[in-house]
Amino acid sequence: MSTSPQLGKEFRYLSAEEVISLGISREDVLETVRRALVEHGRARYEMPAKVGVHPYPEVFFHAMPAYLPGLGAVGMKWIECYPNNPEKFALPQTTGLQVMNDVESGVPISLFDSAWLTAHRTPAVTVLAAQALHPGARTFGMFGCGIQGREHVRYADTLLTDLESITVYDTREEAADRLIAELQPQVEVKLVKGTSVEAVVKENEILSSATVILREPQSIAKDEWVSAGQTILPCDLNTFWDPATCARGTYIVDSADEHELFAEMGYFPGGLPDIAAETGQVLAGVRPGRTSADEIVVNSNIGMAVCDIAMGKLIHERAIDRGVGTLLPL
Ligand SMILES: NC(=O)c1ccc[n+]([C@@H]2O[C@H](COP(=O)([O-])OP(=O)(O)OC[C@H]3O[C@@H](n4cnc5c(N)ncnc54)[C@H](O)[C@@H]3O)[C@@H](O)[C@H]2O)c1
Repeated sequence: MSTSPQLGKEFRYLSAEEVISLGISREDVLETVRRALVEHGRARYEMPAKVGVHPYPEVFFHAMPAYLPGLGAVGMKWIECYPNNPEKFALPQTTGLQVMNDVESGVPISLFDSAWLTAHRTPAVTVLAAQALHPGARTFGMFGCGIQGREHVRYADTLLTDLESITVYDTREEAADRLIAELQPQVEVKLVKGTSVEAVVKENEILSSATVILREPQSIAKDEWVSAGQTILPCDLNTFWDPATCARGTYIVDSADEHELFAEMGYFPGGLPDIAAETGQVLAGVRPGRTSADEIVVNSNIGMAVCDIAMGKLIHERAIDRGVGTLLPL
């Protein structure tokens, strides 16, 4: 049974499987991510916009450091996004490692695979935002049935209890079939296979997308299919949606700094839409979210280190409680 590491002498390493074995519930993730978003919304954080390197045009590595004084948590996630990994190498698009440090002495205290926390904190942000921006929604459309799409279905089922159906769509039809076959026995909400992007956009109140992130907007979901009152929550920046929709909607983002950085890197060739608020500000009640039933709301959440570091603290503490991981010398 391992205990707390001796500060400055050793740190705890957890593999991907060991992180999963901690058995952290979706309710715990939702609570942790909500807390991180509220801290962000109240400006009680330090989180520089991502520092990145780009070995090929469509890929990025990001260093994601954050400090949350209210949680006593500090650390950094180091991730890559290689959109062609699934086809080229049968590897995930996104992989990474996260290091947590002791706030008082600064020394590293744990290091772990970040796949699980990224797969979970991202849909937690989407559904917490959906609950705040579109309470009582009955229909949810999900584009992309990969790692994110699957967890979005689980988190939507957990938090958005008024939902009657989630319609899932993927360009690879087998991915949608597999998601429904595997998850329908686990969730209460009815899962439906979408027939086309147009039908899914037109028939659902809340829409989310987790497909690929590309520099050039692909405008796969056309602006003319989007109607008054819908809420759109992309995890894939500006790739899937028509920039005209973002321009005419109320544009809310998780981090204005991050979106401005992506704009500087050329991801918004037509210009970054005017930002009305940040997701955390809406959750903290600092700024309004939806202000009328007719408004189109686009809430782009590209992922924030504050959520990762809050999750990292939870993982670190749970690992100590359960004696999971290996203590390694520094
Ligand atoms: N915002 C965040 O915090 C955050 C966090 C993690 C991942 N992401 C992004 O989310 C996206 C999905 O990540 P993932 O790990 O689930 O990837 P994944 O490869 O597991 O799944 C992506 C799925 O999208 C499908 N797809 C691709 N283009 C499509 C299209 N035009 N229409 C419908 N389906 C399409 C693919 O067939 C695949 O099944 C990536 O762009 C990733 O960078 C964002």
